[in-house]
Amino acid sequence: MSLQQHAETLKTEAMAALAAADTTQALQDLRVHYLGKKGALTELMKQLGTLSAEERKTAGAALNLVKDDVGAALDARQSALEAAELNARLITEKLDMTLPAQAVMPGRIHPISQTMDEVISIFASMGFVLAEGPDVETDWHNFTALNMPPDHPARQMQDTFYMPGDGATGDGEKIVLRTHTSPVQVRTMQAQKAPLRIICPGRVYRCDSDQTHSPMFHQVEGLVIDEATTMAHLKGCLVDFLRAFFGIPDLPARFRPSYFPFVEPGAEMDIGCARQGGQLKLGNHGDWLEILGCGMVHPDVLKNCGIDPEQYQGFAFGMGIDRIAMLKYGIPDIRSFFEGDTRWLQHYGFAPHLLPNAAFDVRV
Ligand code: PHE
Repeated sequence: MSLQQHAETLKTEAMAALAAADTTQALQDLRVHYLGKKGALTELMKQLGTLSAEERKTAGAALNLVKDDVGAALDARQSALEAAELNARLITEKLDMTLPAQAVMPGRIHPISQTMDEVISIFASMGFVLAEGPDVETDWHNFTALNMPPDHPARQMQDTFYMPGDGATGDGEKIVLRTHTSPVQVRTMQAQKAPLRIICPGRVYRCDSDQTHSPMFHQVEGLVIDEATTMAHLKGCLVDFLRAFFGIPDLPARFRPSYFPFVEPGAEMDIGCARQGGQLKLGNHGDWLEILGCGMVHPDVLKNCGIDPEQYQGFAFGMGIDRIAMLKYGIPDIRSFFEGDTRWLQHYGFAPHLLPNAAFDVRV
């Protein structure tokens, strides 16, 4: 068989094969098989060298023609198959917009932030406004203005971190990390005078560390100053708040006399609970759990802040945010709040769209 005849046979064979190829991949294999470096037609071309010059001319022209024809047929079939494959994908891969969203993990709101927002929302619905103060306080704001002069024994209960030197004041006054949020009472009374109704959440610091104490923790302070504010307002306000916050409409509460130098009278508030095998359950179960400190603002504190105690009086309270968050959300160890474990946050954290708003019904 001459080279031309051989080429024609290959062409017929190739044309049938490529018409039968039904994928672009199968077509690519055929291209390699006939036109590749070691392809059948390429091998024939190599044999042209064995012919005489005259024969090589006609055979070469014929072989080139076959090669071009097969190449063109391959290209045409390629376009057709590509179009078909694209159409098939368009039909099978269309997006179903009615499917639920994929569960991507957005950031979580830390339970402390969530609890702060809940507390703020509830008090906001009772007409309180937000106030804030610095974590690094003067000794005067943290202690002295609150009836705790330098040698007062009550300072012992709130041993804190004293800063070296006298900080920015330059007047020999000590600088401390605040031991409670009560200095915000002082700052707000000085700056805004009376009447006042404020809620102040924030970080506080004490020399304490175990499963229920962290050297840095959070408190929320409340202060109401007006011309006819009484202990009855204090009680009603705090009972309403705790019932709304814990979502227990009949949560029992009681007030025990207690001592804080900056209030008179002073009290500690307990709420009803049950203790069963190390588990704590809130509600009307006969047992009591201490939850916060409170009292009527001491007249000397009002004077220290430039408010006339003959005209104004009011109440204040302070409670641990970490503590009420642990109680509400069943978190056993205070230290876990500050370990930064993202798996913990996935479990105990809140979805961003669950941010509380001021729509709480305080009279649950
Ligand atoms: N500041 C007090 C504490 O940290 C709590 C408190 C606040 C008590 C306001 C009475 C009034 O223990």
